[in-house]
Amino acid sequence: LVLVLDFGGQYSKLIARRIREGNVYSEVVPYDISLEKIKSLDPIGIVFSGGPASVYSKDTPDVDSEIFALGIPILGICYGMQLMCHTLAGGKVEAADEREYGRAILKVRQELGLLAGMRENLECWMSHGDRVTELPDGFEIIGETSNSPVAAIGDQKRGFYGVQFHPEVVHTSRGTEIINNFLSNVCNASGDWTTSNFIEETVEEIKAKVGSKQVICGLSGGVDSSVAAALVHKAIGDQLTCIFVDHGLLRKNEAQEVKETFGKEFDMNLIAIDAQERFLSQLEGVADPEQKRKVIGTEFIRVFEEEAKKVGNAQYLVQGTIYSDVIESGGSESASTIKSHHNVGGLPEDMEFKLVEPLRELFKDEVREVGEELGLPEEIVWRQPFPGPGLGIRVLREITPEKVRILKEADAIFREEIKQAGLSRDIWQYFAVLPPMRSVGVMGDERTYSYTIGLRAVKSKDAMTADWAKIPHDLLEKISRQITNRVPEVNRIVYDITSKPPATIEWE
Ligand code: XMP
Repeated sequence: LVLVLDFGGQYSKLIARRIREGNVYSEVVPYDISLEKIKSLDPIGIVFSGGPASVYSKDTPDVDSEIFALGIPILGICYGMQLMCHTLAGGKVEAADEREYGRAILKVRQELGLLAGMRENLECWMSHGDRVTELPDGFEIIGETSNSPVAAIGDQKRGFYGVQFHPEVVHTSRGTEIINNFLSNVCNASGDWTTSNFIEETVEEIKAKVGSKQVICGLSGGVDSSVAAALVHKAIGDQLTCIFVDHGLLRKNEAQEVKETFGKEFDMNLIAIDAQERFLSQLEGVADPEQKRKVIGTEFIRVFEEEAKKVGNAQYLVQGTIYSDVIESGGSESASTIKSHHNVGGLPEDMEFKLVEPLRELFKDEVREVGEELGLPEEIVWRQPFPGPGLGIRVLREITPEKVRILKEADAIFREEIKQAGLSRDIWQYFAVLPPMRSVGVMGDERTYSYTIGLRAVKSKDAMTADWAKIPHDLLEKISRQITNRVPEVNRIVYDITSKPPATIEWE
């Protein structure tokens, strides 16, 4: 384990990523983690992240100086290096005359530890105001740039290193090697952390945790809950019961796929509830988007509760919480409270379960790797994000069974064409919507007055902002033709060319 102490830097998660890419397990923890906690985690190395503060400003985040006496190698990045120099005897940090942002050339002065094997100059990425002017006792300069005479430093004896630049970003050429040098030359890491080790270890942990107790899992068919269920199933087999609620607002064939995969291929205890009519009747006459979300969320909880009671005596609940969920909620233990946006509208708060969250420490692409290794089909492992209320918020305004059917067909055609064109992993989300309108058209010699389908496809990293996807015109044309030919109730196709903001990804 290598701990990344987070001082509020925008790249903290990326540092952990790079370390894991070197097959060493890494976690981001808050900078004020106690020494006791660090000792109990027994890391082989520690990284101080960058951060927006200056070591001289008030209430600046700092560390207990005892951390330097633990005998654990430390790498300070940017603010982390300044903090190191500020805290250790002999070091000094001052405001620089000129701030330094962006690309710089690092001249390697000594091929020591961190910079072993790096003779030539490297491009590196800088972003700082303060600079180190005096080195702490025992340190030497190992690299410099024209603006920062102290750009990389090291104390080989104690295994302390600092870099003013950011080795974790792709703009730093050979940044990954620098991090790997820290891991292998300084921390003596064995580099054997892989997804299959992760699966083996986690299976043992789950067994030890739940013993012979019964466990339930709400399965949505999304990536996270699917991988979590498969992993727990590998550990405890029939002690796990999965509950899958089909609210009738899933995409075409989705319910079937979940039942096939988990019920048949994985032979899990799967309770698949066909609650389509129940949901549709609750939604009758409801047109307001937020109201629809509420109705679907409440109904989901009711169905789940009813079914969970039948399982009898389950004491544990599996949640597909992943690392980004944990970090977004502050990286603290409190993140283990059930995430409210999970599934449809979240699970009831008064259900007394202990949680099993086997993916808490994984990034999304690691979750996918584990899913693939566990043998889940590609359609599930690479599924695009899908909102809990499903097609309920893609049939705009009031929902009717007919509209759901039309939308399912059009959406399936759109998705199939994108997949065939090889674009499915390029585009973050792509789906069809059914606006509450009809327009005039002509088919054969007949005037029609039928539905319009809106196509939405966006590129995004985190769904907070998004850009509309520039799907080639001839592909759009083909999709338009396919939908109007195969879905007789549709006579017009429009493509959404707004980004987020000002629009949102979903239309409701
Ligand atoms: P918007 O439309 O706000 O969507 O740009 C951002 C992301 O969130 C998804 N989304 C939801 N997910 N319940 C969910 O679980 C919801 O009510 C919901 N509304 C939007 C949306 O698909 C996109 O990925």
